[in-house]
Amino acid sequence: MQKLTSIQKILKFFSLIKYNKKDYFLYFIQAFIRGAQPLIHVIFIEKIVFAITKQDIFLLEKTLYLYIFIIFSYELLWFLTRKFGWVITIPEADKNIYDMYLNKFIQMNNTEVEKIGIGKIIAILENGRFRWSESLADSIEKGMSLFILLSYVFYITFSHGIYYTIGFLSLLVLSVSILVVVNNYQFRYRRRRSEIRNNRLRLITKILMSKNEILQTDRISSEIEKIENYSKEMSQINLDMSNGRTIQNKIMSFFISISLFVFVSFFGRFVVSGDMTLSQFVGITSIFLVINSAISNFIVFYLNLTKEFIDIEKLWDFFENTSTLQGYDEGKKFKYKSGNIEIKNLTYSYYEGKNVFENFSLDIAGGKITALVGNSGSGKTTLVKLISGYIKANSGDIIIDGQKLSDISLKSYYNDIGYLTQEPSVFDGSVLENLTYAIDRKLKDGELDEVIKQANCEFIYDLQDSLETQIGEKGVRLSGGQKQRLAIAKIMLKNPKIIILDEPTSALDSFSEEQITKAMNNLFIGRTVIVIAHRLQTVRHADTIFVMEDSQVKESGTHEDLIKKGGIYAKMLELQSGF
Ligand SMILES: Nc1ncnc2c1ncn2[C@@H]1O[C@H](COP(=O)(O)OP(=O)(O)OP(=O)(O)O)[C@@H](O)[C@H]1O
Ligand SMILES: [Mg+2]
Repeated sequence: MQKLTSIQKILKFFSLIKYNKKDYFLYFIQAFIRGAQPLIHVIFIEKIVFAITKQDIFLLEKTLYLYIFIIFSYELLWFLTRKFGWVITIPEADKNIYDMYLNKFIQMNNTEVEKIGIGKIIAILENGRFRWSESLADSIEKGMSLFILLSYVFYITFSHGIYYTIGFLSLLVLSVSILVVVNNYQFRYRRRRSEIRNNRLRLITKILMSKNEILQTDRISSEIEKIENYSKEMSQINLDMSNGRTIQNKIMSFFISISLFVFVSFFGRFVVSGDMTLSQFVGITSIFLVINSAISNFIVFYLNLTKEFIDIEKLWDFFENTSTLQGYDEGKKFKYKSGNIEIKNLTYSYYEGKNVFENFSLDIAGGKITALVGNSGSGKTTLVKLISGYIKANSGDIIIDGQKLSDISLKSYYNDIGYLTQEPSVFDGSVLENLTYAIDRKLKDGELDEVIKQANCEFIYDLQDSLETQIGEKGVRLSGGQKQRLAIAKIMLKNPKIIILDEPTSALDSFSEEQITKAMNNLFIGRTVIVIAHRLQTVRHADTIFVMEDSQVKESGTHEDLIKKGGIYAKMLELQSGF
């Protein structure tokens, strides 16, 4: 994992601007106008005091009118920008963050995604995105107002001599350094607090997602107790942090009092010696007070930012350092020829230290139906995940029609693949959207109805709005078997060259299964098919059946060959039909 220096972090933090230059430019201008407001007051106070000390009533009136006019115009400008929508509240950075990171997520190595878990990934993405885009806008605004005021102070001090500028600068650097040192001390508390927050979110996700489990075991009070423990630790940390913050504030206010003293005595002497007018003195003192409030604002912002940076860094760290599926976009374009798949000396592990496959080799004939059977946990799903490029082998090769999977772009490969996973899911959207998600051609007349019939999906017509019915989390819930049939229909519509089905009919009754199997046999003609099944009847027509056990192929042949052989397959078949 690469570690960023502070400068790199700052640059990265602001790099978001380059994706949305126009909006950020407008935002800068807006922040400039807002930031200049205190300066207007300061300048006018100085002018008014000047007129008073001169006892020039005419100048005083002129200045007051001008003051009112400027304040009024300023507010009017503000009103108009709002009224005509010229205002940019916060530049639209969310879209850019999602754009960057959802793309990364889609191409992310699935082994790592499964290891971390979707709940945690959601927390990292949403916290990080929110903090980044909010604090970027905030830092532009606060930074701008501080910048304007500081520039003015530099100008004033500089016009009295460079030494005063240097003096002022040293005070500023000193105060910022104190702040940073004290703040770093608080850092470990923040890290722990963010950790607790995330753990608590995971626990809550677990409760929400395992409602039925918890209901049956009456575990809710013990789960809530865990939340309470987190809360207790959180309170302790909050107390420690609040003590730290008090010290921080005391140091700062002491420091401000001292600098006010230095400031007033320095410039007071100028007034006495006649080097400075009283009006300049009042002006510069009011600027000190404004600067003081700007700095306090900035301190609050800085403290918040460093707190929030933990979430932002987590976002960067996760999305930019997690490995991606190799060559999703890059690599040679895949060309399907006959669909021969050679697996050579493959080694794969989900976790370090425990290999699922070790030096595994297997040839799968193109244009034929190959079945994988074998007991649960024998590695069938892992094998097809590897073949479909969904996970990446530690070593060894998967070669399809002479092209190494590691050399080709997965994107081009996926054009020719239809992979029905063991737990097919539907997404929030209409039935039609779900069905046609994988294809971007126009459907032929009657094509959809034909596929719906073949995949035994006529239940769709009985849904509230037929094909337009909303399904998924927000809509009608489908049964396990209905989801499977829909997934089969999707593959039929896509009609890819290589078809991989992980227990496509496991949730279906025998009658539907038989009907679909017949329809699928039509789809399979001239295709390279790998099908996993527990019910052996489903795969009895396969050209080759591989029987797996402990991540190894123990037997292979046709249904008849294997029965004749009288080995594991024959035994399994006997158990399944023996009643
Ligand atoms: N995401 C994962 N993380 C860690 N280990 C996993 C993961 N998925 C599977 N395994 C392990 O890999 C081995 C092979 O699992 P796999 O899912 O390939 O078996 P399978 O033959 O498909 O089983 P089933 O018939 O139950 O679907 C098992 O020991 C399993 O515990
Ligand atoms: Mg499986």
